[in-house]
Amino acid sequence: PTSAARIVIDLDVPGPTISRHLYGHFAEHLGRCIYEGFYVGESSELPNEAGIRLDVVEALRALDIPNLRWPGGCFADEYHWMDGIGPKSERPGMINTHWGNVEENNHFGTHEFMALCELLGAEPYVNGNIGSGTVKEMSDWVEYLTRDGDSPMGRLRKANGRDEPWKIPFWGLGNEAWGCGGNLRADAYADLARQFSTFCRDHGDNKLYKIAAGAADDDLAWTETLMKAISCLGCKRDPKGFFQGISFHYYTVPGPWEHKGSATEFDIDDYYRTMIKAADIDRVIAGHSAVMDAYDPQRKVGLVLDEWGTWWDVEPGTNPGFLYQQNALRDALVAGLHFDIFHRHAERLVMANIAQTVNVLQAMLLTDSSGGLVLTPTYHVFEMNKGHHDATSVPVHLVDRPAPYTIDGQSLELLSASASMKDNRALISLTNLDPSSPADITLDLRGATINSHSGRLLTAPKPQAHNTSTDPSAVTPVPLTTITPVAGGLQVTLPPHSFATVALDL
Ligand code: AHR
Repeated sequence: PTSAARIVIDLDVPGPTISRHLYGHFAEHLGRCIYEGFYVGESSELPNEAGIRLDVVEALRALDIPNLRWPGGCFADEYHWMDGIGPKSERPGMINTHWGNVEENNHFGTHEFMALCELLGAEPYVNGNIGSGTVKEMSDWVEYLTRDGDSPMGRLRKANGRDEPWKIPFWGLGNEAWGCGGNLRADAYADLARQFSTFCRDHGDNKLYKIAAGAADDDLAWTETLMKAISCLGCKRDPKGFFQGISFHYYTVPGPWEHKGSATEFDIDDYYRTMIKAADIDRVIAGHSAVMDAYDPQRKVGLVLDEWGTWWDVEPGTNPGFLYQQNALRDALVAGLHFDIFHRHAERLVMANIAQTVNVLQAMLLTDSSGGLVLTPTYHVFEMNKGHHDATSVPVHLVDRPAPYTIDGQSLELLSASASMKDNRALISLTNLDPSSPADITLDLRGATINSHSGRLLTAPKPQAHNTSTDPSAVTPVPLTTITPVAGGLQVTLPPHSFATVALDL
């Protein structure tokens, strides 16, 4: 049966800006993300610029990637940046102990990362090493990257072929300090973050937005410790001191960690459990926000979700340490659901980075060494939602909606939506999570005159559908043809398990 829904959207009630940085990305030295994904080396037969694969760049440029986080993840806290500069033949290797115990030759280092960001048009988010690095090492890296004029690190940068300093807007103070980043307790990490931050200087007009390594999931106590470390309750000091952002990580892993399940072979109960876990990020963001509000009611400190996405068992036959997984329509719906939630929290949530861009976890692109490149269903959600970048969110009220689905005593809303306005255009995102019923939705559009509308749809015959080199368009956007103008708005029918966008010219 078709379910009926009515959604009221107040186009004349501006909410907070949806930062484009909510559509950020993450690239770690892990599996085939950097090597064989982004970077194939100058000697590759695949078209490349300074070793960076150009078809990958072209596909990602279509997403307007706002920022790219690098070099980790867990890898960040064992990365020593000086090993990744200078002539490649002289760069020392290391063992990537977190990810597959493979040798890292450091051929992709600081200059290569900055060249990649320039090709992508993305702002760099460099994640420094607190776990196994020194204060001087981090301080020198900031100087190397950002200091103009004559200085020891500036001279070294110039000797390596780059005269001008770069601009580095975002700086990470370690990663998952409670785990792979050093197994620290919250107070100990908070002190280290203050110490390292002290020596990460703003050189010239470069201003670092420093991000403290935050909580796993809903570890609100960790967030509270960090907020206390930068707050002075009762005095008038600005809480934005040692760090301006606090991160947290949230992965959609519905099953036990040891058996996360297959990316493409799952049943309907697995599907529902996935969506329930994905939807629960709303509670988690609200929890961190509430803790931060208690110390920072003016919301000056940003909440940064710098790792999110689905995490499945690796594809059979691949290195378990490489985290290579397929990406199905189900993953795309998780992304659509997450973005609606991110938009609702846009006042506090200032950045989010999906893990990870190429060949790792919930990737945008899957590549192979013979030149194959597949756009995943998740890629298409990022592309279809581009109109939300830096747009003004507007209130969305799901007035009538299908009954929630309940499994394991937990319930799931089957319809999700968000909307924003920019330059006399509105973009509405809609996700029908119901795996079997279409949804007839009345969009009650208030506060603006609609001059024209158009829609796009992402779906497939089943949620397990995914793209491969032999069937690259099994899940690809098509025009949404089921939109009809009605008094006061539009009528839209969404097929089961689908994501859609409706654009309005006002
Ligand atoms: O994204 C993969 C890993 O997940 C990251 O390296 C780490 O920060 C997290 O545990």
